[in-house]
Parts: sequence; C-alpha cells; structure tokens
Amino acid sequence: MPKHTAVKDYIRTIPDFPHEGIMFRDVTTLFADPRGFRMAIDQMLHPYAGMRIDKVVGLEARGFILGGAIAHQLGTGFVPIRKAGKLPGATLSQDYKLEYGEATVEIHDDAIQPGEKILLVDDLLATGGTAAAGIKLIERLGGEIVSCSFIIDLPELGGGKVLQDMGMDVHVLCE
Ligand code: PRP
Ligand code: ADE
Repeated sequence: MPKHTAVKDYIRTIPDFPHEGIMFRDVTTLFADPRGFRMAIDQMLHPYAGMRIDKVVGLEARGFILGGAIAHQLGTGFVPIRKAGKLPGATLSQDYKLEYGEATVEIHDDAIQPGEKILLVDDLLATGGTAAAGIKLIERLGGEIVSCSFIIDLPELGGGKVLQDMGMDVHVLCE
C-alpha cells in the first residue's frame, strides 16, 4: 500500500466516464480516507483564516460534502446550488455548459442576503461553466463572493481564467 502524503495522492482517475475520452477525476477515494478528507478540508480553509465569511455555498454534488465540512469549521451557514428541479422553494435559475453537456442550476431566492460574504466551494474546476453559473446566481442575490475554492483545477480546460476574468479570487489544492 503506497503512503499518501498529498491530497492529490488520494484522487483516482477513471477513464471514459461518463463519456469516452473523459478522464474522470474521482474524489470519492479522497473523501473516504479520514486523513485525506481532513487534509483537503484543512487546506481549503487555510487561505481564509481571519476573513469574514457569512455563508458557504456548495455546488451539487461533491461541493455539498466539502461545503458542509467547511461551513461547520467556519461556523457559518451552508447554501446548496442544485441541478434544476431539486429545490422545493422559490428559486433563481442559471443555464450553463459543461465539459460534457448542458445543464441548469438553481438557488433558493431567499438563501443569501445582499452584502453577505460568500465562499463558493466545489470539488473540481474544468471549463468553469458550473462555477460561473453559481457565481451569477450568488451575485444576482446580492452576495459578495470572497473566493472560490476547489480541490482540483484542470488548467487545460480554462476554468481558472474564466473565473479570474469574472474578477474572482480562486484557490485550488492541485492540478
Ligand atoms: C463536475 C464537478 C463540477 C463540474 C466542473 O460536476 O463536480 O461541479 O463538473 O465542470 P465545469 O468546470 O466544466 O463546469 P458534474 O457536472 O459531474 O455534476 P455532479 O457533481 O452532480 O456529478
Ligand atoms: N467535471 C468536468 N470534468 C470532469 C473531470 N474530468 N473529472 C471529474 N469531474 C469533472
């Protein structure tokens, strides 16, 4: 059994999922390991020590796992951004494109108050389409995004540049 010393060592790659040609970066192996999961949460929190954050917003689905743990550590509330049709209350919707398809995400329209400081969280940044849609939803509600935090960036897909061009501070643990 190899010794895992970095977050990246706990992530496995599944070829051709969910479509041929996609190298799927699977963080379930990171989440399943107590040392790996704690390391990931601690490293994601590190840049925000001492900063005001009112709410953590997580992107479905793996952003919920990370966002819940991060919100607990920060002592903030957690707000989910979900795929269309899942949230029970009144929502705002935003369409977006994925590396492999198209989708719509939604947020409850009362989940964020104007001026609240928001940390946006997900497992992976690829094209940036999902995160950009999330950013638009948060900003439509008047939230002020302090930063966007991911475990993995796939730099060849350009998501980091997309978010920086939107004026975002972006933190990633590995590429
Ligand atoms: C993955 C990942 C991000 C998104 C990144 O989610 O967890 O949310 O893709 O891709 P992008 O930067 O090109 O938008 P996925 O769409 O597989 O949804 P899931 O988490 O609900 O499985
Ligand atoms: N979302 C978009 N591209 C992905 C990839 N290569 N691995 C995991 N999630 C993804």
